[in-house]
Amino acid sequence: MGSQYDMLAAITNLTAEMPLRKYFEEYTFFQALGDVTGRSVLDVACGSGLYSRRFKQRGAARVVGIDNSEGMIDYARHLEASQPLGIEYHVQGAENARGLGTFDVVAATYLLHYAPTREVLRDMCASLFASLAPGGRLVSICMSPDMELGDSSYYRKYDFEAASRGEEGDVATVKSLVPELPFTITAYHWTRPTYEAALRDAGFRDIVWHPPQIAPEGIAALGADHWTEYLRRPHAEVFSCTK
Ligand SMILES: C[S@@+](CC[C@H](N)C(=O)[O-])C[C@H]1O[C@@H](n2cnc3c(N)ncnc32)[C@H](O)[C@@H]1O
Repeated sequence: MGSQYDMLAAITNLTAEMPLRKYFEEYTFFQALGDVTGRSVLDVACGSGLYSRRFKQRGAARVVGIDNSEGMIDYARHLEASQPLGIEYHVQGAENARGLGTFDVVAATYLLHYAPTREVLRDMCASLFASLAPGGRLVSICMSPDMELGDSSYYRKYDFEAASRGEEGDVATVKSLVPELPFTITAYHWTRPTYEAALRDAGFRDIVWHPPQIAPEGIAALGADHWTEYLRRPHAEVFSCTK
């Protein structure tokens, strides 16, 4: 511990409790992923290890988390040491995920929109492809190519603001409005054809964008109406594809 990213790592970990993450993101992601019992999973851009832990808790046999931030990996290892689940963590970039063997599942939650150019996006996709066993699946969350960017107030009800000029490759920001969770994500806006071309060039097939879903607990907790606008223009989307 003690690196410059520790505070961000702790905040990233706490965001798991935000209604949007819990009821939309995690629910939609696992609906798309399905059963991981006995599978091997590589969690690329694992951050504080939220999804790595979920995979193990849901019965995955082997889970490896990688992230290019030492602070995130320090924090993930700190959580692993205090509540061991048998997860391995490494400081490693997504563009160079090779050398860890191949996996049944590669997860990349909030990774691909950090690619600043199409070339980096292609390198990331090629690296994710190389980390999968034949027939394995990539399941990923990225900023939605169709997120609402014209009206900065659109997502306030969901505790954040999004901004971008919205052109291909433009910087896009997501700023948390939760006072205890102050963070801003700065990434890049890529269109659906650009994501799909990078995935196909890497060798992926059967690309599916999964419709956003809200967990029944999220509807019980906040009411169906609360989610209507979000479901119309989700800021993040889950997709999957196959090697
Ligand atoms: C918003 S966090 C998401 C963390 C985690 N996947 C989750 O869903 O909780 C994004 C993570 O991507 C990592 N990241 C960004 N670019 C990366 C790259 N090129 N290679 C590996 N990790 C990267 C950051 O360090 C950060 O931990």
